[in-house]
Amino acid sequence: MKILAIETSCDDTCSAVIEVKQNKEFRILSNTVSSQVKLHAKYGGVFPSLAKREHQKNLPIIVKKALKEAKNPKINLIAVTSGPGLEPCLWTGINFSKDLAKKTELPIVPVNHIEAHILANVIDKKPVFPAVCLIVSGGHTQIILMKKIGKYKILGETRDDAAGECFDKTARILELGYPGGPIISEKAAESKNKKLQIILPRPMLHQKNYDFSFSGLKTAVLYDFKKRSKKERKSKQYIQEMSAEIQQTIIDVLIKKTLKTAKDYRVKSIILSGGVAANKELRKQFLTAINNQHSKIILSLPDEKLCTDNAAMVAVAGYFNWQKKKNWKEIEANANLRISDEL
Ligand code: KG4
Ligand code: ZN
Repeated sequence: MKILAIETSCDDTCSAVIEVKQNKEFRILSNTVSSQVKLHAKYGGVFPSLAKREHQKNLPIIVKKALKEAKNPKINLIAVTSGPGLEPCLWTGINFSKDLAKKTELPIVPVNHIEAHILANVIDKKPVFPAVCLIVSGGHTQIILMKKIGKYKILGETRDDAAGECFDKTARILELGYPGGPIISEKAAESKNKKLQIILPRPMLHQKNYDFSFSGLKTAVLYDFKKRSKKERKSKQYIQEMSAEIQQTIIDVLIKKTLKTAKDYRVKSIILSGGVAANKELRKQFLTAINNQHSKIILSLPDEKLCTDNAAMVAVAGYFNWQKKKNWKEIEANANLRISDEL
């Protein structure tokens, strides 16, 4: 079967076509993303009404492109993200998909964006359960217990900013642009020494729960930044060292909390997902930390391109929802949808 998917929950207009083979393996036939990054860069974050307008403009073009790249196959199902995300953006994708479903007389299925991020991991490999999923994106930071596909329990989450949001906000303080994650990691990679001895707090690192807090980190960066002279703030040394410390702080907290959860729940695998999971240093240090523990836990990492928002992951999640239920009637946007909620 072939699935056409549409994803417009935030600032990327995405469409993809995947094939589900007889043996239940997935093949991505196309996966197109139209990024609005440049448009939102001047606001240092996503501007919802602007994002909605861009989705409306881009959707017909992107869907056509996805179908063309897939060589215009016969589609059997349409999958669309219904939440969580920015409500006006979600509705744009849903309304577009509903119109298309009506015109083509194809069935349509809603998808939870968070579940789609997690299922980016099953595109090219078989998941091992039980698993602990760490979802780290611009909007979410959650630790989720996954017993099987479709069965999730949130064990912990951020009490304030998401990890990606922390990268974005601290990059804004350092006047590095948006989105912050890739820029901070690039600057951090250039850092060679620790002349300035910047040390940021690792929030909630030693607490017994599985929650996170990143807003204090942003405040600590702001204090340090304000303390410096204008010349020092702009210096390569400062930007590189501060970026390295921001990245390392976030990595330390994410790894320590996830490994603790994995141990407490005696899971067989750890599944990473979301935009921040594209971070090379996080990926590398996660592997090292697991090896250092001599643990048999398997680490599942999606391809870097499948970490950030895309519609191939939505198509895969759509497939599993379709397996569960065939007649999805009223699809509505739910900006605050949780992974444990019914769609
Ligand atoms: O999953 P995603 O594309 O969108 C949401 O659902 O939020 O994640 C976007 C977030 C942004 O905050 C961005 O700064 C972060 O992921 N990000 C990264 C990297 N690439 C994207 N953070 C750290 N390192 C990266 N390489
Ligand atoms: Zn996302």
